[in-house]
Amino acid sequence: MSGIAPFALEQYFARHEFSTEILMCSSDVDGLPMRQLLDWADDEMLGLWRNQTMGYTESTGHPLLRREIKRLYQTLSEDDIAVTAGAEEPIYIAMRLLLQPGDHAIVTWPGYQSHYEIARSIGCELTLLPVRPMGHRWKSSKHWMIDVGELRSAIRHNTKLIVTCFPHNPTGALPTHEEWREIAQVIAEHDVRWLSDESFRFLEYQPSDRLPSAADLNAKALVIGGMAKTFAMAGARIAWAATHDRTLLNRLVGYKHYTTICSSGPAELLSIMALRAKQKVLARNLGIIKTNLARANAFFETHESAFGWTPPSAGTMGFVQLKRADADVFAEAFLKAKNALLLPASVFDYPYSYFRLGLGRTNLDQGLGRLGEFQAEFQISNFKLQIDD
Ligand SMILES: Cc1ncc(COP(=O)(O)O)c(C=O)c1O
Repeated sequence: MSGIAPFALEQYFARHEFSTEILMCSSDVDGLPMRQLLDWADDEMLGLWRNQTMGYTESTGHPLLRREIKRLYQTLSEDDIAVTAGAEEPIYIAMRLLLQPGDHAIVTWPGYQSHYEIARSIGCELTLLPVRPMGHRWKSSKHWMIDVGELRSAIRHNTKLIVTCFPHNPTGALPTHEEWREIAQVIAEHDVRWLSDESFRFLEYQPSDRLPSAADLNAKALVIGGMAKTFAMAGARIAWAATHDRTLLNRLVGYKHYTTICSSGPAELLSIMALRAKQKVLARNLGIIKTNLARANAFFETHESAFGWTPPSAGTMGFVQLKRADADVFAEAFLKAKNALLLPASVFDYPYSYFRLGLGRTNLDQGLGRLGEFQAEFQISNFKLQIDD
């Protein structure tokens, strides 16, 4: 492909997602059944659903949808929101609008590839800001976080964009309120644009951990939110860009006329239903995630000689260290032997032996069972190989 590097993660999923029995590395929660959404829908929505035509829709999004999205923020109005075709669309458009060759961008990493690859394809300089297991100021356990001092010192005269993604894909990092305020402060002190991918917001394990959106903290921040992860509706392909900067939002919608023009009407209505039933949808999704997190914690405690585990603070996934094997080799052999999929960290260009573990699928316990068996078999066969050598 010319111009832009292949999207390694999407290619990996394209190869395996629909042919593997157990997906242990997805970033979404088991898809919400349409039947469930229609059961939860109020009379107004059921009426709109029955009378929906298959015509074009408003480029900025259905007014009722923008009204529901607005409720997720403290300081935004409907007109500060533009509905998009998935979160991928506004990430792409924003990078194209905000960056020129020679500009510098700072991006949390490892991360979702479009956060840095589009900037790279434009000819930008990049600083990949590591998310690492770090000590808490007041707790003994570690959590995944960036170093805010490193963020500050990475800013240069030509830095145009800082991209953050919290809750973070793939580590589950979530700053504390204090750390988030520090990040906002550093960005506010410089003339840089903040792109905050909040695709996993509202999937905090403790409600008090939920951070204010960057759009409510910084008048020029461009925030991305969506239905795919938090609301288990990846197939609806509905997301949004939110910002107080109307000029930027109008330019984004203008660019969208060259990409998708408008969103799918039925998907917009289903998204309104989900947003109106937000408490029920979140209870369902967090129920699945927390059950899986408890299983993962127990699993990694039992298998700590093989796996390193710094648990996520929020979101749908964790990032697991493989202590005694190469993650690519291990994931490939595991897939072949057990028909279950792990995502090796090489798809994030991450040079250490890690894999992403998804916490959103109800069959994760089966997958962990297979992982436990396989890891024992793998150690034995490697041991034999070493002796035969
Ligand atoms: C951080 C992040 N942003 C954006 C996306 C794309 O989301 P969507 O399916 O809404 O396009 C993903 C998908 O995995 C993601 O993890």
